[in-house]
Amino acid sequence: MSTCVILAAGKGTRMRSPLPKVLHPLGGRTLINHVIAAVSIMDPDPIIVTGSQADLVEADIKKSHQGCHFVRQEPQLGTGHAVAQALNHIPNDDSPVLILFGDTPLINTKTLENLVSLVSKETPLAVLTFTPDDAGRYGRVIIQDGAVERIREAKDATQEELACQLCNAGVMAATGRILHDLLPLLSDQNAAGEYYLTDLVALVRGKKLKVGFASAEAYEVAGVNAQMELAVLEAYYQQMRRKELMDQGVCMPHPETVFVSYDTSLAPGTLVESHCVFASGVKAVGPVHIRAFSHLEGVQLQAGCVVGPYARIRPGSELDTDVRIGNFVEVKKTKVSSGAKINHLSYIGDASVGAKANIGAGTITCNYDGYQKYQTVIGEQAFIGSNTLLIAPVNVGARAYTGSGTVVGQDVPEGALAVTRAQWKLREGWSEAFQQRKSHKGDDV
Ligand code: UD1
Ligand code: CA
Repeated sequence: MSTCVILAAGKGTRMRSPLPKVLHPLGGRTLINHVIAAVSIMDPDPIIVTGSQADLVEADIKKSHQGCHFVRQEPQLGTGHAVAQALNHIPNDDSPVLILFGDTPLINTKTLENLVSLVSKETPLAVLTFTPDDAGRYGRVIIQDGAVERIREAKDATQEELACQLCNAGVMAATGRILHDLLPLLSDQNAAGEYYLTDLVALVRGKKLKVGFASAEAYEVAGVNAQMELAVLEAYYQQMRRKELMDQGVCMPHPETVFVSYDTSLAPGTLVESHCVFASGVKAVGPVHIRAFSHLEGVQLQAGCVVGPYARIRPGSELDTDVRIGNFVEVKKTKVSSGAKINHLSYIGDASVGAKANIGAGTITCNYDGYQKYQTVIGEQAFIGSNTLLIAPVNVGARAYTGSGTVVGQDVPEGALAVTRAQWKLREGWSEAFQQRKSHKGDDV
């Protein structure tokens, strides 16, 4: 176990967004929640340094992680200054402290563990390096005799230092003691006028102690600074997650058109056709068939379900075995029991549908009166005729029928038929008479 500090106080100016940078989504969860997940086995309750839009950032993180410790950095005077704000929560001993950025979502737990394992009394600091395609504005890591000598921020670097391609990924591991000893000694005498965390390297070297380093793949440490970078990472993440699912036995003939979330879980043997979106919370316990152009979120599906094409399943839904949800059907907060069918053009919300019930085309649960939501309960083997309106709260008993076009405003007992029909009128020859009347009028004009 180690202490983890996640820096998330920066403004994220280049995102040009009212949303704090670390709350932007990647694969269905925020950037910072990806980072918290990556460190969770080392430190389930990391310290998070917030500053810019701190209230928003903290409130959002608390929704899914109650144990995190928050430290405010105000004003933001650099990465070194940010970590210094967390010193009160960092033990002053030789146990390792991991420092990383909240805007680097794809960082791998193994890489972090590896970096932390380098830290000891003799090597009280270790930095994570990588070799990007374009070293650009990254801090350069200068190695001498197999150890890190210094990190030079691009803004402050000489031409010779800029030629170095080994860059600082921004992740560091240090003993708590070295942070307590050296963070107060950082200076802001540099091109940015900031307290650089990276200057710790020179301070540790000044004490004749060693600075270790580990390396990471460029994608892992890619930070998000602008919208386009976020999109590039999203594409990369999608590729990774689709491959993971396919490796687990999910059949996806057009993977480049399928979008999944960090928590999408699909049983082996599942077939996903093209152009499907899995927002968060989708779990197929057994093999299912998701047909083209379907959008699913917050639903558990059992074996044998067929969904779509063009279906929308919204949060709080459960589809039992062999359920059929067809085209242009929206299902919300609804439990559909085994073998039931909702095949065409329906809205079924806040409902439960019994086993083997058949919901006819165009059935709507009228679940909302502008103030509250109400439940519709449909019994097993009930037959809901096409274009039925179910005015909730309402129950339709097992094996009951509703006639086409019926407005169900009261409970229908088990086995009964409920029909509402407007009076039937038939006028023979009406059409011709009507047209004559009209065309005669037309002559007058
Ligand atoms: C930093 C590194 C650089 C490295 C690069 C990798 C320093 C001085 N430089 O540069 O060597 O190559 O990351 O991406 O560390 N933050 C705060 N408070 C602050 C300033 C920043 O919390 O006062 C947070 C930001 O929210 C962000 C992270 O620290 O999550 C990095 O800050 P940023 O300004 O982006 O650092 P870089 O200039 O990219
Ligand atoms: Ca950055």
